[in-house]
Amino acid sequence: MSITGFSSEELRFQAVWSSCRIPPRLAGASFETYKPTCPEQQRALEKCRVFAANGLDNINQGRGLFFQGAVGTGKSHLSASILRAIVVSNIDRFGRPASENGFVGEPVYEGFYCSMVSVVDLLGTLRESFGVEQFRAPARRLLHRARSDAVVILDDIGAEKPSEWVEEQLYALIDLRYRMLRSTIFTTNCSMKKLEGQIGSL
Ligand SMILES: Nc1ncnc2c1ncn2[C@@H]1O[C@H](COP(=O)(O)OP(=O)(O)OP(=O)(O)O)[C@@H](O)[C@H]1O
Ligand SMILES: [Mg+2]
Repeated sequence: MSITGFSSEELRFQAVWSSCRIPPRLAGASFETYKPTCPEQQRALEKCRVFAANGLDNINQGRGLFFQGAVGTGKSHLSASILRAIVVSNIDRFGRPASENGFVGEPVYEGFYCSMVSVVDLLGTLRESFGVEQFRAPARRLLHRARSDAVVILDDIGAEKPSEWVEEQLYALIDLRYRMLRSTIFTTNCSMKKLEGQIGSL
């Protein structure tokens, strides 16, 4: 227990979780708060629990997941819940990038980094950074996390407006993560056929 009333595990969890870039709407997402409303959602929940239970092994093997389904069915919720479950159960194995330490003297936590990134936001941030010096460093940081974090949720892939540039960026990112055995969780509303049209064969 520390003077804040939180245990060192809880403090580490808060530090790691806040570096995962989970959007506020999903910051509290967990398996416990996911309420399946049909057998398909129940099956998805069970598969996610199994994936999370073998989380470290899945990370070490670079295994990921692919969520496909209609708007609002809980794909992003479940993917954030997987991260939470893996981080909570293995908190001593997770860290956060030093640059995200808020204050001088805050503890440094080393270990796997993980993050959630909206594909539309990522591409928009990269596009905005062209020729605008002040946007370049944050765009580079975002891309660096998307490329190098041990686990990344690429949220809502296929929602971006297709173009040759988009296809090139996404192919490069996904291919790099695949080659480097980094775990990627995808969520999408698109059919596989439409996605292949946008990114090439996955
Ligand atoms: N089965 C569920 N139980 C509890 N909350 C849910 C469930 N499904 C969705 N939600 C909540 O509804 C909101 C929308 O869910 P979420 O963003 O996960 O949907 P999505 O499938 O990713 O949608 P989209 O295709 O638009 O990205 C979130 O706040 C999420 O927490
Ligand atoms: Mg979503």
